[in-house]
Amino acid sequence: MKPERGPLRVALLGCGVVGSEVVRLLNEQADDLAARVGTPLELAGIAVRRPERVRAGVDPRLVTTDAQALVTRDDVDIVVEVIGGIEPARTLMLEAMKSGKSVVTANKALLAEDGATLFAAAREYGADLYYEASVAGAIPLLRPLRESLVGDHVHRVLGIVNGTTNYILDQMDSAGAGFNEALEEAQALGYAEADPTADVEGFDAAAKAAILAQLAFHTPVTAADVHREGITEVSAADVADAKGMDCVVKLLAICERVPSLDGRNGRGVSVRVYPAMIPRTHPLASVREAYNAVFVEAESAGSLMFYGAGAGGAPTASAVLGDLVAVARNVVGGTPGPVEVTYAKLPVLPMGETVTRYYIHLDVTDEAGVLATVAEEFARHEVSIQAVRQVGLGEEAQLVVVTHRAPDAALSAVVEGLRGLDSVREVASVMRVEGEE
Ligand code: HSE
Repeated sequence: MKPERGPLRVALLGCGVVGSEVVRLLNEQADDLAARVGTPLELAGIAVRRPERVRAGVDPRLVTTDAQALVTRDDVDIVVEVIGGIEPARTLMLEAMKSGKSVVTANKALLAEDGATLFAAAREYGADLYYEASVAGAIPLLRPLRESLVGDHVHRVLGIVNGTTNYILDQMDSAGAGFNEALEEAQALGYAEADPTADVEGFDAAAKAAILAQLAFHTPVTAADVHREGITEVSAADVADAKGMDCVVKLLAICERVPSLDGRNGRGVSVRVYPAMIPRTHPLASVREAYNAVFVEAESAGSLMFYGAGAGGAPTASAVLGDLVAVARNVVGGTPGPVEVTYAKLPVLPMGETVTRYYIHLDVTDEAGVLATVAEEFARHEVSIQAVRQVGLGEEAQLVVVTHRAPDAALSAVVEGLRGLDSVREVASVMRVEGEE
């Protein structure tokens, strides 16, 4: 019989919105968690920068400003990092693993920038590194990709992974609001931060896309590899145009395995974040307000959709606690969990090689030969047109063209060409179209 082991001691780094919720759950659910793990989980210490700001319900005797000392203490078994940012989080997690502790983190920015260093340390020191909370908050997504689908072949991950931008675009769609008005509302409701750059410019979604692509395709991907476009240029007219095509505009994180002509392993991967039109019949179109959802397409499993709250203290703490229990069970069992494998080493392809579709709205002069001239520009770049709609407005006309799938480089060359035509007064709107044709 195994000897009874004592409690597992947990060090918490950071005690803000998520950290204080982790403390509350650890206290309130102590008995259940002990039963699930097989031994109690005890807080050994909580490292914060400003102890005077620690919230009610947090035992002040546990609070320290010396995070460095806490993560290497002999009586600590597991470190939970919810500080965020690159440093000092990276150094603290590396120190923790080096001194034999496993780590649970919600730090998407660090994983997307320098996950390789952390994974190498986990391997070297036999530590667990779990990070479910780093992408899409409460939604169980990384564990399904890392464990449940590890025997399958994932082709594509298509997700709404940023709640703030989904809220803004949803308001633009449902209330006809402009971008600035919808952003102000999101800020008033606490979805968007005072400086909304990370959300509206797509940085947050790009970090999440890098983490998802790395897991889905077993290949190293960093945030810098991700093609990124935000939603600040999306206009009320774009959203109205999308409606006219029975589509909705969403900020999508797209991770795709790009097949080679003859092999199944693929020529590379495409990882990108941008606003795109998707048909209202697509499951992601029904994701409203600040919710997140991720659609996964795998060879044998087919299509799967994961949906839920992507942010907030309690949902994120749920994911952190789930990881903490999983890691604690591994410690009790004496067997570390799965380590990251990036054996595939597929190249991340440039955006120009990504195959997609465009929606293009042109203001043109309404006279003989204009349609032919415009069509000639598409033909010149071997881009096939799927649909054309024209509305005559006296001397000018609005021309809406939707293409078939083509390399992004060819599609953007068409747009450049159209801008140079005398008969084109303005390229009023260009947006990619995703989802099945
Ligand atoms: N700011 C993010 C969002 C949550 O709006 O979804 C944290 O990643």
